[in-house]
Amino acid sequence: MKLKMMYSFLDSDINIIEQSLEETVQAESPLLRNASMHLLQAGGKRIRPVFVLLSAKFGSYDISEIKKVAVALELIHMASLVHDDVIDDAELRRGKPTIKAKWDNRTAMYTGDYIFAKSLEVMTEIERPEAHEILAKTIVEVCVGEIEQIKDKYRFDQNLRDYLLRIKRKTALLIAASCQLGAVAAGVDESIHKKLYKFGYYVGMSFQITDDILDFTGTEKELGKPAGGDLLQGNITLPVLFAMEDEDIRREIVKVNETMDRKEIEKVISLIKNSGAIERSFTVSNQYLSKALAVLDTLPQNRAKKSLRDIAKFIGKRKF
Ligand code: IPE
Ligand code: IPE
Ligand code: MG
Ligand code: MG
Repeated sequence: MKLKMMYSFLDSDINIIEQSLEETVQAESPLLRNASMHLLQAGGKRIRPVFVLLSAKFGSYDISEIKKVAVALELIHMASLVHDDVIDDAELRRGKPTIKAKWDNRTAMYTGDYIFAKSLEVMTEIERPEAHEILAKTIVEVCVGEIEQIKDKYRFDQNLRDYLLRIKRKTALLIAASCQLGAVAAGVDESIHKKLYKFGYYVGMSFQITDDILDFTGTEKELGKPAGGDLLQGNITLPVLFAMEDEDIRREIVKVNETMDRKEIEKVISLIKNSGAIERSFTVSNQYLSKALAVLDTLPQNRAKKSLRDIAKFIGKRKF
């Protein structure tokens, strides 16, 4: 099943969000507008807004209210991508040149800030202090996660715990917050929005592990960005950690550095791919998904529940 099919009953609401996203980034400055629209129109899975909407279905669902939270979450995600592509020196995103590549780093930094500020502006219309607190704390964690990642580059002595904490911060917590905030904005009881947060956290962990696997197994066409970049950049992800348990492979991996040529890095990548590390990483990803599904089971029955289940399963098998 295609991702979009999993929440087809939300189609018209998703369209409202797309429209609202576009309206929100219509800056007076042509440069900020064009750069933001460039990334927006490149597409993306919109998984965070979808989680916001589905979680709101557990409470009093009013699209004119919920859409603000959904838009805000996608904008924060987008802002973090614009900045991330500067940090990672990435050329492609969503199959299109990144803002930093099409314009330059300075433009990207301000476009990221602009999109981020727009997100906060949209959020001001939500009169729930709790929602702002959750969001602010999440953004702090994302920043810490991204900084940790820079610090941990080429640090081959890191362990599984370092990795899991880093992906929790840089990815899982924003997905957790998407689930929780959709529910909070819909006036859902604390006992339920806390569960949705947990669900989102587990799904988010699985999502980033899958992302890290895809960097080894995916194609540029599938991913909308070149594969194999993580290792070259010194980003020690789960498959690398598992592969390093083999002393012979470890010796090759620790030689990886910024100046290594493509051919050499390809050799290391295939060593990792043939070491069983990909399969083991999938196992960990699936363990998180099982936890997500177990939390979901304890939530009240409604139409959204089936979609959340399908999306969680999709994440474990996704190819983009
Ligand atoms: C990319 O997120 C960055 C990660 C946290 C893995 P997505 O895979 O959700 O990116 P888009 O929005 O679909 O482009
Ligand atoms: C995800 O990090 C970006 C953020 C959470 C800000 P990555 O660097 O792993 O994601 P991609 O590969 O660029 O999408
Ligand atoms: Mg990146
Ligand atoms: Mg990054």
